[in-house]
Amino acid sequence: MPVLPSHNTARSALTCRYRCGDACSHDAPNRSLNTYFGDIVHQVSRRGALKSGAVLALAAAAGTAVATPAAASGKPTTPAAHRGPDRGAGRLPRGLRFEAVPPNTADAVTVPVGYAQQVVIRWGDPVLRGAPRFDARRQSVAAQSRQFGYNCDYMALLDPPAHCRGDQLLVVNHEYTNEEIMFFGYDPANPTREQVEIAWAAHGLTVLSVRTDRRSGRLWPISGDALNRRITATTPFELTGPAAGSDLLKTSADPTGRTVLGTLNNCGGGVTPWGTVLSGEENFNQYFANAASVTDPTAKQRLARYGLPTGTSQRKWERFDDRFDLAKEPNEANRHGWIVEIDPYDPDSVPRKRTALGRFKHEAAEPRLTSDGRVALYMGDDERFDYLYKFVSTHRFKKGTSRAAREHNLRLLDEGTLYVAKFTGDSPIAEIDGTGALPEDGDFAGSGTWIPLVTGNTSHVEGMAADEVYVFTRLAADKVGATKMDRPEDVEPHPHTGRLYVALTNNKDRGAVGKTGPDEANPRNGNKHGHILELDERRADAAATFFSWRLMLVCGDPKDPSTYFAGFDKSQVSQISCPDNIAFDEHGNLWLATDGAALGANDGLFAVPVTGPHRGHVKQFLTVPKGAETCGPIIADDRILIAAQHPGELDGATTENPGSAWPDGPGTVPRPSVVAVWESGPRH
Ligand code: FEO
Ligand code: CA
Ligand code: CA
Repeated sequence: MPVLPSHNTARSALTCRYRCGDACSHDAPNRSLNTYFGDIVHQVSRRGALKSGAVLALAAAAGTAVATPAAASGKPTTPAAHRGPDRGAGRLPRGLRFEAVPPNTADAVTVPVGYAQQVVIRWGDPVLRGAPRFDARRQSVAAQSRQFGYNCDYMALLDPPAHCRGDQLLVVNHEYTNEEIMFFGYDPANPTREQVEIAWAAHGLTVLSVRTDRRSGRLWPISGDALNRRITATTPFELTGPAAGSDLLKTSADPTGRTVLGTLNNCGGGVTPWGTVLSGEENFNQYFANAASVTDPTAKQRLARYGLPTGTSQRKWERFDDRFDLAKEPNEANRHGWIVEIDPYDPDSVPRKRTALGRFKHEAAEPRLTSDGRVALYMGDDERFDYLYKFVSTHRFKKGTSRAAREHNLRLLDEGTLYVAKFTGDSPIAEIDGTGALPEDGDFAGSGTWIPLVTGNTSHVEGMAADEVYVFTRLAADKVGATKMDRPEDVEPHPHTGRLYVALTNNKDRGAVGKTGPDEANPRNGNKHGHILELDERRADAAATFFSWRLMLVCGDPKDPSTYFAGFDKSQVSQISCPDNIAFDEHGNLWLATDGAALGANDGLFAVPVTGPHRGHVKQFLTVPKGAETCGPIIADDRILIAAQHPGELDGATTENPGSAWPDGPGTVPRPSVVAVWESGPRH
């Protein structure tokens, strides 16, 4: 049994160890003193001017969410699975007419009555031609590099080109590996080269052609399709944008600072209007070792702000490739922590890391168009007390599928302005006491600004050159007084109103001794269960630098007085904790996948209307198996897809002593898998 570190979260220690390098057990790396005082000063009250009504009405009128072309519609459309008459669930909005799944700890995916489910693809299933069937006892580098990777996370469904044998293209991230529940006989202190190289091959992304069986409704992978692709921790990437070629990105293997091997810890993502997939490199720091060997004070500060391990890394990759050893390659870590852009329609394309989007623990990148046709991307930095960012391109998106339009669009994310968010509350700070009690005006709300950090080669941050702002974006944001948030994760625009929804997963350290206290946008001390923030940009224009905001949900057990469900009757809602990846259905209901299980039940997928009389009526749609996290929800017109990530990742679990038997049953190793759910019969 492994010796597990002590940890301070509801997640298993095993998850903390492998997913984010025990981030929770370390001090949050943001020790800047950049917020709060500003909040007090500005607090005085923009109240009235910005208060909800007027701004929300403007937002509702404009509707600037990106209308993605069919070819790029990784986003939800009509949930036919939820159409039809309401049979007994009360006057619920369309899309919400299912019986809520109660909290549970089953080792299964549990769906509402009247819904069917299917495992679409599992870790180790064949993707590329020649891939062998999965055999947990005989896994090899050659097999893994042709098979579906580990820990599926973000997913996008795209329309395929004409020559594809499938009827859709599924793109999936593989965030991280957990060697202790992947390999038989794994010794964390002495991994073998074979195990390490399998892990490299199990990271990255998969592009997979899939076909719908019209009779059964099932979705089948087409292994060996010409469009299928595996991108791994060793696939060559091009660094593009203003920081490409900077001295900060040069290594002995790449003196140009423009080519890097692999992508790591790919978490959430987004689909661009031109049909590419964006993916966030999140907890990249954990793969590197020996930050303590760096003595230069500036370099040390930079490494600390990104949480680079001072000693050996968890997986010991530095023993097998010098680039993971900061003592030997101090700049290699600077080449990770970016948003990557993949063209799933061209299996030979070189994927890109877009330096114009800044470097931090990127959760995801959600695009929409500005009123004049430029591209805005919203991005969270998932760490306690880190920030929310926006990028706005200099040039406009060109419609159409011509080669010229495509080449133009493929350069859009290389030039623009990167901003960071500052939130100001509209209630007196004394009323934000950290308990979650609403202030006198009845809601947590206020205004905010997007503070520019850098435009092209021009830095807006005193004392930092442009390439330093891109590579050490967290330090730049510290200097301009960005608001420290409770782990900003996914951001999604409402398909009709243009309002943005931001998932803030949790922050156990909010208000702790020596840590930043509550503010109106992050109002709860020791925030174990997270919250959902609604953001309206001025005139609903994604180019705006000014916005209003309010909290829609403050999550947890509805019996807990610190929770808030947009004022909806709490006796009718499902408990919910740690919202992470979010998506909209075509009716405008928000779907939330959770990552935390902080209420003792398995993680799940939830739906909630954000407008109308049922605003705040959270209902649980499904739960995932023991130890798993719900990822990548796609709320499509005929089915819902989720990725059940890290099943069986429980304290004490090993491959020999598994924490779950899902999906293959007793006597097998748990396998992270993609699951489809659809309506199959009467619901009541
Ligand atoms: Fe990989 Fe922020 O979740
Ligand atoms: Ca208020
Ligand atoms: Ca996530």
